Amino acid sequence: MSYDVVVIGAGPGGYVCAIKAAQLGLKTALVEKRATPGGTCINIGCIPSKALLYASEMFMEAGHNFAALGIEVGAPKLDLKAMLAHKDTTVDANVKGLQFLIKKNKIDWIEGTGTVHGAGKLSVKDKDGESRDIEAKNIVIATGSDVAGIPGVDVKFDEKVIVTSTGALDLDKVPGHLVVVGGGVIGLELGSVWARLGAKVTVVEYLDTILGGMDGDVAKQFQRILGKQGLEFKLGAKVTGVEKAKSGAKVTFEPVKGGEAETIDADVVLVATGRKPFIESLGLDKAGVVLDERGRVRTDNHYRTSIPGIYAIGDVIAGPMLAHKAEDEGVAVAEIIAGQQGHVNYGVIPSVVYTSPEVASVGKTEEELKAEGIEYAAGKFPFSANGRARAMLQTDGFVKVLADKKTDRVLGVHIVGFGAGEMIHEAAVLMEFGGSSEDLARTCHAHPTLSETVKEAALATFFKPLHM
Ligand code: NAI
Repeated sequence: MSYDVVVIGAGPGGYVCAIKAAQLGLKTALVEKRATPGGTCINIGCIPSKALLYASEMFMEAGHNFAALGIEVGAPKLDLKAMLAHKDTTVDANVKGLQFLIKKNKIDWIEGTGTVHGAGKLSVKDKDGESRDIEAKNIVIATGSDVAGIPGVDVKFDEKVIVTSTGALDLDKVPGHLVVVGGGVIGLELGSVWARLGAKVTVVEYLDTILGGMDGDVAKQFQRILGKQGLEFKLGAKVTGVEKAKSGAKVTFEPVKGGEAETIDADVVLVATGRKPFIESLGLDKAGVVLDERGRVRTDNHYRTSIPGIYAIGDVIAGPMLAHKAEDEGVAVAEIIAGQQGHVNYGVIPSVVYTSPEVASVGKTEEELKAEGIEYAAGKFPFSANGRARAMLQTDGFVKVLADKKTDRVLGVHIVGFGAGEMIHEAAVLMEFGGSSEDLARTCHAHPTLSETVKEAALATFFKPLHM
């Protein structure tokens, strides 16, 4: 078997790369150890979590906000089995869609675990242990990432009581007390799901803030909002032990600044302390593919590894572990292999936390601008001053636009509020074109829309908002 391109890993990075390569006329194969395409994102990550986030949000709306809109439905009853079935159906439909795309683009699907043997050579072992050799002019490693666990703590996951995000998507009943280790994206998204369905949720986070790395203003406001929703936070707390108890589990943590250790009981513990590149079975050291100091595949800005003809993209290389970053790299590397100019603008990669309300950002945070000594102007506008938000009872949050003080070029936009994950893209497009906050403020925005908050925040960076 011989190909122009063999992609190892059929997650968002890998399958998009394979589709693009095939569209560009390259003979392409996709190697995947799972029986279904889509990787973590579609099978056990982004897509199933969004199904549960949406369903649990509707459950909460029905229970708390319908009456204020004049809709009497009584207390909503949870049918968790049906909710989980909705999640599974969603995954299934996405997987089928992908299988169709793989066929339509005439990509060879090779099920099994791929091992790289050097330039142009790899083998794939199927689940019966049968191995076959494959030749490929170009190999793209897109094997994604896996749960990192807690450094220095031996956590025994059973995916029932002590769970990763995978188990947290499949609990067969709502836990009385869910303890979440890690106040990052996974912890807050999945913590929110179970809090809305009735669990008491305690988040234990090492840093003094949730969503470390996000704009500090946004993180603070977001924590207040989640607090109102009933989530409890233990910040500046380092988890040193997670152990199964007679019933449930125990989580031990100590103040980062020093002090007495504390132990709390949990029915379920979700450990969401980050992910690490997944490079097992790839045989990279034997093949001579060099890793960086953090165990990621080292690449240059054309995604080339240390071995000619072997490329890597997505969570296995440097940069944010985001599906859309991997997808864009997949397109770029396919174009590069085809002799075109593939490129990803890392300054404009939006990130979204799919909670209720959502948090979304693109570009630099205020903290980053300060650290880099860049003079900037900040404009802020609250959802509470937006007519559409009031009509929808979605007045929590704000938009913040950060623009270069001298040139007015927009350097970052941060939103916490309903619909933030959709609204962020007008900022991303503007930034991709090097637009200014005046460009944004002078662009006519339909009334009444939530997006008017973006226009008003842009106006506030260089003059005054109109509706405040
Ligand atoms: P994360 O890196 O976002 O957050 C992990 C948190 O755990 C950090 O705040 C860290 O300080 C804390 N932590 C680490 N060790 C600790 C300890 N011993 N005690 C207490 N806290 C501790 O990682 P997360 O949430 O697991 O997500 C993994 C990756 O998946 C991230 O790169 C994330 O961007 C990505 N992801 C993105 C999503 C999105 O874009 N909506 C959704 C889900 C995941």
